[in-house]
Amino acid sequence: MSTSSSAIESVLVENRVFHPAEAAVKAARISGMESYNALCAAAEKDFTGFWAQLARDHVVWDKPFSKTLDESNAPFFKWFEDGELNASANCLDKHMGTPVEHKTAIIFEADDGAVTRVTFKELLAKVSQFANALKAQGIQKGDRVLIYMPMTIEGVVAMQACARIGATHSVVFGGFSAKALQDRIVDVGAVAVVTSNYQMRGGKELPLKSIVDEALSMGGCESIKSVLVFQRTPTACAMVAGRDKTFEEALAGQSTECPAVPVGAEHPLFILYTSGSTGKPKGVQHATGGYLLWAKLTMDWTFDVQPSDVFWCTADIGWITGHSYVAYGPLAAGVTQMVFEGVPTYPNAGRFWQRIERHKTTIFYTAPTAIRSLIKAAESDDKVHPKQSDLSSLRILGSVGEPINPEAWMWYHKHVGGERCPIVDTFWQTETGGHMITPLPGATPLVPGSCTLPLPGITAAIVDEAGHDMPNGAGGILVVKRPWPSMIRTIWGDPERFKKSYFPEELKGYYLAGDGAVRSADRGYFRITGRIDDVLNVSGHRMGTMEIESALVSKTDLVAEAAVVGRPDDLTGEAICAFVVLKRSRPTGDEAKAIAKELRDWVAKEIGPIAKPKDIRFGENLPKTRSGKIMRRLLRSIAKGEAITQDTSTLENPAILDQLGEKY
Ligand code: PRX
Repeated sequence: MSTSSSAIESVLVENRVFHPAEAAVKAARISGMESYNALCAAAEKDFTGFWAQLARDHVVWDKPFSKTLDESNAPFFKWFEDGELNASANCLDKHMGTPVEHKTAIIFEADDGAVTRVTFKELLAKVSQFANALKAQGIQKGDRVLIYMPMTIEGVVAMQACARIGATHSVVFGGFSAKALQDRIVDVGAVAVVTSNYQMRGGKELPLKSIVDEALSMGGCESIKSVLVFQRTPTACAMVAGRDKTFEEALAGQSTECPAVPVGAEHPLFILYTSGSTGKPKGVQHATGGYLLWAKLTMDWTFDVQPSDVFWCTADIGWITGHSYVAYGPLAAGVTQMVFEGVPTYPNAGRFWQRIERHKTTIFYTAPTAIRSLIKAAESDDKVHPKQSDLSSLRILGSVGEPINPEAWMWYHKHVGGERCPIVDTFWQTETGGHMITPLPGATPLVPGSCTLPLPGITAAIVDEAGHDMPNGAGGILVVKRPWPSMIRTIWGDPERFKKSYFPEELKGYYLAGDGAVRSADRGYFRITGRIDDVLNVSGHRMGTMEIESALVSKTDLVAEAAVVGRPDDLTGEAICAFVVLKRSRPTGDEAKAIAKELRDWVAKEIGPIAKPKDIRFGENLPKTRSGKIMRRLLRSIAKGEAITQDTSTLENPAILDQLGEKY
């Protein structure tokens, strides 16, 4: 943890302020800043009473809870512990017999443009039937099920079906490699894998099942008893007799009714892996009650969803955003949502805008990286500019995953939002379960590039390294002082790492987000300045530098040593830059190019294509202090192409800097 460089920086002067329209304020649930302030005051006055009331209002309990928060074993907080509920019943069953029952739950658009719709009632039948199929495989409450699926209705069904029977799902993004998948299967101790023969992305048929087979053949996966395979495309895939079943086989004869199993509020709903600054990715464990409350509540607060909305979150179910704002939130809120299988640039970079026009999307939630790449495309080809599509149905825009630069914000506001849609720049993390700091569409005046203010009850603050509050205008470490219902409960199988990573002693028991932030002097608005640990954010995807380094040095025939740093990138936010020392002499020219390609392919195989370094530099050595510590700050400067201004007198081998600066 360090606040020395990027975290503490001066406040960017941003004078543009956009106030919500009067009509929007009037119509909103949290209407105007007075209404927001009143909620914050209520939370401050009676913290547990505030959460208890919300949990009663937003969650259907099979058994009511009697105690709201148990802090006796901090930081292992427990919320609503003796209450019982089922997350799937809260997303589906509760709508039966209401006007939502026959409403479209999901408008699915496939990569090739084909559209499928399911109502809430039909979705309940699908989930129930799949839940019965899981039970028929011997899967029980508490078992872990690994889901490695494309963006499809079936992916959401698989997650909901696990929740329905009290099995804990662990979704792995379809872009991760066999090795990454195997690591997660072993760590989580999954009993089954739910996958698909192939996935369709950008007109290409990409394998999933064969990657599962490869992962399972690597060893350590003996816990897996069954593999259920969705036939996404007509192409056949290899099936292992006795272990693998197609969905068709598994669902045959299964009833479309399956009672939802009530579970304790603290029962783990899912475990989702994310990168940290050290070691292997960590399994972030979320609890059913608090998480479900948050998914539902933030749909109401942040997106102010109304019955007529068509909600579209573009995130994959493999990430937390796809959990909270595809698989759970919209269903719990009873809102129609779009699920999109494809990519924003296929068949052309106007695809998102055409989808909004076609399905009359009213709330659109995406990542700054997507916006930046679509700006670039629209600027070079008028045919894919958002102005070519009728976007008048939109009323709220959202941004998530990384800081949105003010220029991209302004473009999004003008060209997508028609200068009328508020942008909710939502700051949150896998660990927080849902939104933490975000504007509210009918209340908060917007400032481009700022996620503005914490949600009511969220005690976000900026402190120094000893946990002392920093004044507005001065940067520091972003913390949350008090627990909140949807917070991470532990790291699966590693409670010590949980404590160390998120509740370091010097921070007085505050939750450490891992980001630097600064509050504006005038409004106290938060602006996130980026990670303060060794975690990179590339296109909104979290990646640990150590993880990539370990992947590189595991190529033992070639690599002696590697150091990975991030550098700013206009399109992807950050880009991965790897400095590599080979076991043989330092390559140059075409040879260096060929080896760099080999190393990139290797990282893709070890982790996934998203972890491929953009730049690879070769050196005879790495810049180290006399005590042997790699000077990463110097590497960051070299990666950025900056002149070295730091003191290099403690370097053991200063000449190495020129060499590492050379591009081949
Ligand atoms: O650095 C912050 C950045 O993304 C990190 C969390 O990544 P992940 O767990 O993968 O979750 C992404 C989706 C919620 C944070 O520590 N981040 C996320 N949202 C924002 C952001 N940085 C700035 N502004 C945001 N709105």
